[in-house]
Amino acid sequence: MPDVDAIIPGDPCILVIFGASGDLTRRLLLPALYHLACDGLLSSKFAIVGMAMDAWTTDEFRERMTVQVRQFTTRVPFNEAVWADFVGRLHYVPGKFNEPEAFARLGTVVGGLDVELACGGNVLFYMATPPSVFGMVSSALHAAGFTKLGAGWKRVIVEKPFGHDLASAMELNREMLKYWREDQIFRIDHYLGKETVQNLMAFRFSNGMFEPLWNRNYIDHIQFTVGESVGVEGRGGYYETSGVLRDMIQNHMFQMLAYLCMEPPVSFAADAVRNEKAKLLDAVRIMSREEIDENAVRGQYGPGRGPDGATLPGYRQEASVSPTSSTETFAAIKLNIDNWRWEGVPVYLRSGKRLWKRGTEIVVQFKRAPDVLFRNTAASSIDHNRLIFHMQPDQGIELRFHAKVPGTAMRLQNVNMRFAYGDAFQASRAIGYEVLVYNCMIGDATLFSRTDLVEGAWRIAQPLLDRWSTATPSEFPNYEAGSWGPKRAFDLLERDGRRWVEIINRDVLEKVPLFAGSDPAFQNSLLMTLEPDVYELGDYIFREGDSAEEMFFIARGEVEVIGPDGKVVKTLGGGDFFGETGLLTSRPRNASIRALAQTDVFVLKRSDFKKVLTQHPEFADSVERIAKERYKLILAASLVPVAGKAAP
Ligand code: BG6
Repeated sequence: MPDVDAIIPGDPCILVIFGASGDLTRRLLLPALYHLACDGLLSSKFAIVGMAMDAWTTDEFRERMTVQVRQFTTRVPFNEAVWADFVGRLHYVPGKFNEPEAFARLGTVVGGLDVELACGGNVLFYMATPPSVFGMVSSALHAAGFTKLGAGWKRVIVEKPFGHDLASAMELNREMLKYWREDQIFRIDHYLGKETVQNLMAFRFSNGMFEPLWNRNYIDHIQFTVGESVGVEGRGGYYETSGVLRDMIQNHMFQMLAYLCMEPPVSFAADAVRNEKAKLLDAVRIMSREEIDENAVRGQYGPGRGPDGATLPGYRQEASVSPTSSTETFAAIKLNIDNWRWEGVPVYLRSGKRLWKRGTEIVVQFKRAPDVLFRNTAASSIDHNRLIFHMQPDQGIELRFHAKVPGTAMRLQNVNMRFAYGDAFQASRAIGYEVLVYNCMIGDATLFSRTDLVEGAWRIAQPLLDRWSTATPSEFPNYEAGSWGPKRAFDLLERDGRRWVEIINRDVLEKVPLFAGSDPAFQNSLLMTLEPDVYELGDYIFREGDSAEEMFFIARGEVEVIGPDGKVVKTLGGGDFFGETGLLTSRPRNASIRALAQTDVFVLKRSDFKKVLTQHPEFADSVERIAKERYKLILAASLVPVAGKAAP
């Protein structure tokens, strides 16, 4: 990778963008190129030629981009002087990708600019188009003589999705390789343009304290979450042919997986890094049909509510989506990496649309310390240490570990150390495409996928695609828009005695009346203690007579409290809690709790409950007060039969 501090501009070149009138160009590509210009990273011998079907002129293209760059740039203030120079470098050639004359016109424009600017014959082709035309454009470029043009380099950037499945990816590779050499093809994955993703390698290989622990001896398991709060955003037509496995997991998530788990490369040279990534993907166990049914969960969102209470449509109600669609908008998968380093360390991945929040996080959970020393102390339990990579929108790294609670007894509490990008660096104002396009201009392919990497990733995904295309998910939709996702995704980990680490912040706790306005130290300890769980309509969260092991806080949803006589005593909704009386009295549950809708809860385990009560007397007081009132209510309800739902 280049030494960015040196501010070495990219090579002189003409950048040809196919699909220049599209969304990608205006939202991401053009603003990123403008940012490169602002940072002095574009050569003075540089021009852009846009090509698309729209019958625009160069002037119209310039006018449109002048408006749109202001909308999508992440740099404030706008640098008028840089743009004034930049916009003069924009050119436009209208034409269809199957029209040889259009490519002849393109050849004339590119040739003219090359001579005028003395670019030395360097041309970078950017396919910001649907993958169905990658081959067609390559063949047209070849026919028009572009791939053979004398001096200078010719490179091609290919957007995702690269293929629709393993067979089509192999076919596309074969087709591309007919016209280009492997070292000319730059397959893009915009996740690799993210600072936090690139930092995975920097973090692992520049910090001597973690790498020795990075293996099956010390790590219990790894979790990857890419949650999105948005739906399909008008891309229903595309998404129907994709689904989350193709859209997020096969590409972005497998790339992050490779960075996090690969062996150290012998250098940062492109092929050294890509060799290790390819080896890692090769080591991921290919699942059998039976293993898929056991280790993979898919979901589709139904109607629900956003955090502001607004109604959200279900996936099947989105534009261009079939009302009986079986496309998955959520998936959770347990993978195994069959190599020396990771044998026996499960990797759980989940991603979904329309979840309760946007957040990409990686959790590395270490094995627990032995509790022998603490058995006869007030430290009732030893938790796992966790290293958490906050990828986006929060950017940082957090280490969670134990500390002794001040006082005479040996009590432990989870605490954390946190590095935030914003504290250490000027907040990143990059889109992510800057580094990718720049690297291509200087010929560094480290951040791009090679043929074997793309095929390796599809090889892992293919059995899931096959399995899911045959079995129709009768339970779809199986999670509400705005929720934490399908219950089965939580069961997947619970079955292994684990739980997803849901990253919550103080704003979430403030919505729970019991925690609102409470001491920040108290809130901080809760953030690291509460565990998420999901129940479906009709599920019993617990039943009367069960032993009391946990207390619950409702994040969203609704439950009914059913007294010993089978009558409903009360309903509880978002922000309410239940399950405290059994913990306080150490007696079995005196009522049953049943979900009236999908209900997402935070769970406080008995051992943590005790810790929290001891350390935060103000919390203990409010819980006890409310518990007494409820106890009386339940007692009264069981003595006096009530018709229907009792008023709270
Ligand atoms: C794209 C997917 O590749 O990545 C989208 O097609 C998704 O569906 C997007 O929303 C997520 O990217 P980011 O950078 O917002 O995490």
